[in-house]
Amino acid sequence: MTSTFSSLRINSDRMLDSFTQASSFGATSEGGVNRPSFSEAHLQARKWFREQIESAGFEFRTDGAGNHSAVIASETKQSPTLIIGSHLDSVPNGGKYDGGLGVVAAFEVLKILQENRIKLKVNVEAMDFTDEEGTLVGLLGSAAIAGHLHQKDLDNPRGGRENLLEGMKCAGLSDESMLSAKRKPETLAGYLELHIEQGKRLEKSKINIGIVSAIVGIASYRLTFIGKANHAGTTTMEDRLDASLGASSFTLKARELVMSEYKNSVVNVGKMEFSPGAFNIVPAQVDLSLEFRSATQDEFDKLDEALISLAKAEAQKFDLELTIEFLGKHSPSPMSDKVQTAFASACDDLGLTHTSLTSGAGHDAQSLADLCPVGMIFIPSINGISHSPKEFTEWEDCVNGANVLLQTVLKLAT
Ligand code: GLV
Ligand code: MN
Ligand code: MN
Repeated sequence: MTSTFSSLRINSDRMLDSFTQASSFGATSEGGVNRPSFSEAHLQARKWFREQIESAGFEFRTDGAGNHSAVIASETKQSPTLIIGSHLDSVPNGGKYDGGLGVVAAFEVLKILQENRIKLKVNVEAMDFTDEEGTLVGLLGSAAIAGHLHQKDLDNPRGGRENLLEGMKCAGLSDESMLSAKRKPETLAGYLELHIEQGKRLEKSKINIGIVSAIVGIASYRLTFIGKANHAGTTTMEDRLDASLGASSFTLKARELVMSEYKNSVVNVGKMEFSPGAFNIVPAQVDLSLEFRSATQDEFDKLDEALISLAKAEAQKFDLELTIEFLGKHSPSPMSDKVQTAFASACDDLGLTHTSLTSGAGHDAQSLADLCPVGMIFIPSINGISHSPKEFTEWEDCVNGANVLLQTVLKLAT
């Protein structure tokens, strides 16, 4: 790399202005954003990003999965594309950094490439991926690009088919368009993402940048425990077929199981819906949303089996029926060595400290990991808080991360 390139830096004020604008869509009084996929606020943020791309004179690109991007084409015809980006959707009542920062930083990197008329050997594309957070499907836009999305994923999404149809309609998308967004692996030069850590490791160790070595595998199921509705006052305790008992007992035992035998994994029961759901009716049915994550494939597979066996055993213990709906999974994904080395070298050039760490959160990089070299960097999250309006990262760290992204793009794309 020439010395001219290594002295390039992102424009901190411009990026802050852009981040402030992006954070205004769905802004909450607590300082976060509420932008679940295809909500009004999310649609506004998507529209804003498109306008920003067009007004800055970039080629705007969209695909059948609703991914939005700005592209700078390489002068070399038929070049593959290096994608950089993140997502503008959020979890309900989430923070403004998770996703939003990565999109804004990727776009700022593109502006620097454009302003400096950098000759690129690959196309560079700054992307906002559709439904990363899984309001509807999870890693939806990236899975579509990777060709990992199938009709069955759209037929039974974790956010419900009706909600998916409604969301796709609002964004002018359909099942057919989603499945057409696939790109050929040979057209992809790689994928890079800047993200907040969403944990405390960097903050505690006072290290500037985390270079992600692998992203955990994530699986989700809907478990339905089925008993029988009856009068809550007149049915004896012995006579009840109470669906809540299976669901509750499963939740507690799943925690014990993971804490004792699957120490590199986590399990979460994020939602239980009771039917009929009244003070004075024995619960006939509980729909339970189960998600678990593991860093290694072996543990991921074993935990999957163990949790399903546990659910069956708990249902049986309370004389309940059980239905199990598999809602999708993403395998644990190692990041590319080449990209990790490029990130480390960029950190060294910039005088920033760095360490290697795994990601317990899911990211679009894992959809693309088996197609092209992918990598992520993390910057410190204050108190490790994320998926909360209290999510916060010092602006200086955001700028550091964006500069590492810029310098890494220069290493890989020129
Ligand atoms: C996305 O942030 C997830 O890890 O659920
Ligand atoms: Mn994210
Ligand atoms: Mn998230």
